[in-house]
Amino acid sequence: MRRRPLLLTGALVVLTGCSSAVLQPLTLFGAPGIGDPYYPGDGNGGYDVERYDLDIAYDPADDVLTGVATITATTTGARLSGFSLDLVGLDVSAVEVDGTPVEVTREGDELVVDPGQVVVDGDFAVRVEYSGVPEPVEDGPGQSGVVPTPDGVLVVGQPDVAATWFPVNDHPRDAAAVQLAVTVPEGLVAVSNGTLVERGEPVDGQRTWTWRTDEPMAPYLLTLAVGDYELTEREVDGVTYRDAVSRRLSERLAGNARTALDRQPEVVDFLAELFGSPYPFTECGAIVTDSPLGFALETQTRPIYARDFFGSADGAELVVVHELAHQWTGDDLRLDRWRDIWLNEGFATYAEWAWTEAQGGETVADQLAAVLDTDADDEFWTPAIGDPGPATEDLFGEAVYVRGAATLAALREEVGDDAFTDLLSRWTTGRAGQAVTTDEFTGLAAEVAGTDLTDFFDGWLGAGKPT
Ligand code: ARG
Ligand code: ZN
Repeated sequence: MRRRPLLLTGALVVLTGCSSAVLQPLTLFGAPGIGDPYYPGDGNGGYDVERYDLDIAYDPADDVLTGVATITATTTGARLSGFSLDLVGLDVSAVEVDGTPVEVTREGDELVVDPGQVVVDGDFAVRVEYSGVPEPVEDGPGQSGVVPTPDGVLVVGQPDVAATWFPVNDHPRDAAAVQLAVTVPEGLVAVSNGTLVERGEPVDGQRTWTWRTDEPMAPYLLTLAVGDYELTEREVDGVTYRDAVSRRLSERLAGNARTALDRQPEVVDFLAELFGSPYPFTECGAIVTDSPLGFALETQTRPIYARDFFGSADGAELVVVHELAHQWTGDDLRLDRWRDIWLNEGFATYAEWAWTEAQGGETVADQLAAVLDTDADDEFWTPAIGDPGPATEDLFGEAVYVRGAATLAALREEVGDDAFTDLLSRWTTGRAGQAVTTDEFTGLAAEVAGTDLTDFFDGWLGAGKPT
């Protein structure tokens, strides 16, 4: 039920009905951060988003994005007299809360609905009109975020990207359904997550593409690729695979990419068996971009791949295994706080090892042995992978990926194949669709194994080589 906002004349109202001295529930201002120590400004307190309806136009000629975002949310505790959304740059021209125009202020990367104008309690909707040229995110040697390309634009990044293109509760703890309608010049293809609801007819040289994801999705996993793409579609075992491969790729790269992508249903079957739970979504597929991106990303149902992963035909499917594994661990199960990133990257890398072994290549045991061969003085052992630090190069450092995978391989040896298989299945099934923490995983592992694993996990997830 949608409640009308209560219009207030004063600022914070805590007491009403003075004659009978009835104490009303406290009215609060939603915190400007969700409470993740790695990124204190990310996300916001006081509410939970159910759904984003984004209606945007992107003009590749001047890189201007024009948008209307409608955010449907629910307060999580006290009713709110004001709250924040995350938004980096961009000009806001109008904001309404449940149809009531409100004044906002910009404080750093927060879009603040100032207290004293509305009170929201339970379900509410915020509508934001905005426009501007999004600021790219400096990301190691390159850029991520909203990045213009010769033929259009690519939106991809982790952890920071969402707030650079729409007002958002920008933290994976608050996942939401998304509908994205994007209007671009009619000759271009616009690809995003989930299902293609509509490819509109051209109007005045523009076409609107509407994409929809019903399963909750962490905001950073929302992607958009606009450009000269070949979009193909096929259905296998009830899952629709939509692949967008840039037409700007060389024949060789495009061929290697298509060969790897053709194996997606086989990879999905393999991973469902490995994780002991079915593929979490009904849509799948890939975006292979021609732009110089230094990484791939597990954008929900439709990972993005940099072209350079497909330089050789040999092993080109490994990155596909990695990103599709993230659909279980990273996307369906998502992080409650960024320090637990090994729950994403360690699991996806372990899936690569398991795939390699199943293909008759190096065994998981050999990969683990190679890790354990690394000298204890090597800086590979320096970070605590259970708390690697917020810098992108640490969050996505080799230690998190490889030692994360080795932690799982060692755990399998510690608890035995049966308990390990049972653990992965209970983890991905029991926590499906939820935000998870390391403690929840280690607790479940101890429960399934029926033994205390404190020293084991302290050794593997802490700093230094485990003894
Ligand atoms: N999660 C991505 C992967 O599967 C890596 C993302 C790297 N992110 C970045 N901003 N450089 O490997
Ligand atoms: Zn990964």
